Amino acid sequence: MANFGSDNASGVHPKIIEAMALSASGMAPAYGVDELTKSVEQRLASLFETDVTALLVGTGTAANCIGLATFCSPFGGIFAHAESHIANDESTAPELYTGGARQFTVGGDDAKPNLEELVQKIDVSGARGVHSVEPAVIAISNLTELGARFSPDEIAAYSELAKSLGMKLFIDGARFANAVAGESDSPADLTWRAGVDALSFGATKNGAMAAEAIVFFNKSAAVNAERIRKRGGHLWSKHRFLAAQFDAFLDDDLWLANARHANQMGQSLKSQLQAIPGIEFASVSEANELFVRMPKPQAEALWECGHAFYEWPSLEGTYRLVTSFTTEQAEVDAFCADLRALATDG
Ligand SMILES: Cc1ncc(COP(=O)(O)O)c(C=O)c1O
Repeated sequence: MANFGSDNASGVHPKIIEAMALSASGMAPAYGVDELTKSVEQRLASLFETDVTALLVGTGTAANCIGLATFCSPFGGIFAHAESHIANDESTAPELYTGGARQFTVGGDDAKPNLEELVQKIDVSGARGVHSVEPAVIAISNLTELGARFSPDEIAAYSELAKSLGMKLFIDGARFANAVAGESDSPADLTWRAGVDALSFGATKNGAMAAEAIVFFNKSAAVNAERIRKRGGHLWSKHRFLAAQFDAFLDDDLWLANARHANQMGQSLKSQLQAIPGIEFASVSEANELFVRMPKPQAEALWECGHAFYEWPSLEGTYRLVTSFTTEQAEVDAFCADLRALATDG
C-alpha cells in the first residue's frame, strides 16, 4: 500500500543514523561551539558559494520563526501567501517569536504570492505611519505549499520589491532540496543571487531525524538570531547531533540524491494519474507534492484499500499526495492501479 501522507512520515536515512551514532561517543563542547557544527557552517557556505551565518534547529517551525523574528520587530508585518505554512500550520508561533508582529496574506496561483496584491497590501498596511504596521518581511516558500518551484527571476521580483521598501525577503525552504533537485539553478541562484536575505533549509522531510538550518545570507541583519534561538528554547545543548545530521546530509550530496528520488517518484505518480479519466490537478505539482482533484467516493475507496493521504483543507475536493526519499515505485504503481480500477468501475 502507498503512504503519500507526508514526507514527514518517512524514516531516517541510514547514513544519517550512522553519522549520529559515530558522534555519540566521547565528549564535545555543548551549545554549538563544537568542531562539527563549525564545519557544517563552512560546508553550507561552500554549498551556497558565499559567506553565511547558519544556525541549526530541530524543527521547521523554529527555523521559520527564528528567521522571521530576526528580521521583524513586534510592530512589524510579514507578508506571505494565504496557503503558507507560517500562516496556516505554525499556530501563532510567528506572532510569539516576533513578540506580536502581524501576518498579512495574499492570493496567487500555485501558492506564489501575487505581486500586485502584495504591493497593494504592503502599501495599505503601512499607510498610517506610527498608527499602522511597519512592513518588514516578504516570505515565500520554495517549494511552495502547492508543490510549485520558483525560478530565480521570480524570486528576484520579490526581492526587488522588498528592497525598494526597506523590507527583507525570507524563504521557507522546508522542501528547498526538492526545489533544487533535477533543475539547473544552483542553491546560490535560488537564494542570495536573487536577493534572498535568509532561507530555512529543511533536512527533516528529506532524510534527517530532526534538523533544519537557518541560513542567513544577509549576515549584518542576522546579529540577533542566536539570541532569539536561545530565548526560544531551540539552542540544543548536545548540538553535535544536529550537526552530525547535517554533515551526513551534505556528504556526497545525499540531500540532492534523496530529493531527486522523491521528485522522480512524484513525477512518475503524476504521469500515471494524468492518464486516469476524471483525475485533475489543482496545481502544477512539479516535484514531490501533488495536488489532485478526485471524487470523494474514490478517495474514500483508496483509503479503504489502505493507501494513506490527506484531503487539503483549503481546496475543496483536493487531495495532497506526497512522495519521499523512501517511496518505492511499487507503491506508486499499486496506488495508480487501484485508482484506475475505481475510475473504470465508477
Ligand atoms: C512548507 C513547510 N514549512 C515548514 C514546515 C516545517 O514544520 P515542522 O515544524 O512541522 O517541522 C513544513 C512541515 O510540514 C512545511 O510543509
